[in-house]
This record gives sequence, C-alpha cells and structure tokens, in this order.
Amino acid sequence: MNIRVFRTPSDAGIYAASILERVVTSKERPVLGLATGGTVIPLYEAFVNLVRCGLDVSHVTTLNLDEYIGLAPDHPQSYRAFMNEHLFSKVGIPAESTHLPNGIASDLAAECERYNAVIRKNPIDIQILGIGVNGHIGFNEPSHTLITGTHVVNLSAETIKMNARFFQNEEEVPRQAITMGVQSILQAKQIILLAFGEHKAEIIREALKDGIRTDVPASILQLHKDVTVILDEQSASHLD
Ligand code: F6R
Repeated sequence: MNIRVFRTPSDAGIYAASILERVVTSKERPVLGLATGGTVIPLYEAFVNLVRCGLDVSHVTTLNLDEYIGLAPDHPQSYRAFMNEHLFSKVGIPAESTHLPNGIASDLAAECERYNAVIRKNPIDIQILGIGVNGHIGFNEPSHTLITGTHVVNLSAETIKMNARFFQNEEEVPRQAITMGVQSILQAKQIILLAFGEHKAEIIREALKDGIRTDVPASILQLHKDVTVILDEQSASHLD
C-alpha cells in the first residue's frame, strides 16, 4: 500500500483529485466509484476546481457505494442528494451516467441484483473510499462474514450515531442501507482510501497494520495491489 500523509484535508483532497484527473484523462470511458460523507468533500471541491479549469468529464460514468434505505433521491440526506450537491450539479457528467442504488425500491433483492449488473457492465477504474470509525468501507459493517456483492445491511449503532450529525437527531437516521459488497470494491482496478482526523487514527492503524479481520472490514484492502491511502497528520498519528 502506498500511504501519503498531508498537512491538511484540503491538501490531501487536491492530491486525490489529481489521481482522479489522471484516470479521467487517460481512459476512453472512465468509471469512477464514489463515496459520500464528510471525508470526501475536500476531494470533490478540488475535483470541481479541475473541471472549472477545463477538465472534461462528459465521458465519465460514476457508481456510488451505497444509499440509505427509505430515503427518496430528492430527500436532502439521501446520498443521491449529497452527490448532486457536492459534485454532480457542479460538473458536466450526464445524469444518466451517474449510478446509485435506489433506496426506495419496492423489491430490495431485485434492486441489489440490478446494481450488481450495473457494476458488471461498468468495471470500476478507481474506487474512492472513506472509512467508518468502526472500520466499515461502503456500509460493509464489522461482522463475522463479509458479503461479496450488493446487499441490504443493518447499520451498526456506531454508524447511526456517527451519521446523526447529518440529520436533525439520531432517530431520523435510517437503520438500513444498500451497499456494494467487498468483492465489488476489490475488483476496482485502483483504490483510494481517505481518512482525516484524530478519531480515525486508531482504526487506520488496525486496518493497515494488523492482519485481515472481518471485524475491521477495511483491512481487506490489504489484498488489493493498487491502494493509495491518503491521510492527514492526525489520522496517520498511530502508524509509527
Ligand atoms: C459513504 C460511505 C462510508 C463513509 C464512512 C466515512 O458513502 O460509504 O463508508 O465513507 O462512513 O464517513 P465520513 O467521511 O463522514 O467520516
């Protein structure tokens, strides 16, 4: 794994955006695997700046990792709304080229299959990941087993608590989500894992330096041959 440590999340975001830029300019039909959450905002800000300076993204396809179950795409806390606000509305990716699971599908098993087919049809060139304080990637939560494909997941109490900051209160946080599975993530040709802040320092150490453990889902990234971990000084502080 290639580990890069930056002074600030903003510097880290600029570096991560430059890696995305390389993928976008070097492929005929680049497919970007995207994430939501606080961590990726500096990356999207830097990427939007690149687009404003002339980077063409009209040929890009995007696939997001996950979506809350029960939130319609126009719900302000849905991940579709997050992506619209922080990226899609600011760059020229055609709407039909942006994919997320549908959190209000009436048949969730069929929706998981549909999303697996979207992933198969659009092999991911680069997957952006954040990490939960419990080690989740996407919403693959700590468990005895990690699931390979897209699936419905019960969010852990820790994740619900952490994500309450985006809602009015903890009760409003959906209890379930649809997430890409770990095999889909590992099949991306390249992976960028971002983490910022002291509160991520210990889980980053466990994910990168301990063995592979299903109770630290991000540790499975040790199996991938092209992972860049982009940290700030705080999140890197337990690595030495
Ligand atoms: C979001 C996602 C999650 C987040 C993780 C970190 O699409 O898949 O795994 O990346 O929960 O969230 P933040 O960045 O808010 O700390």
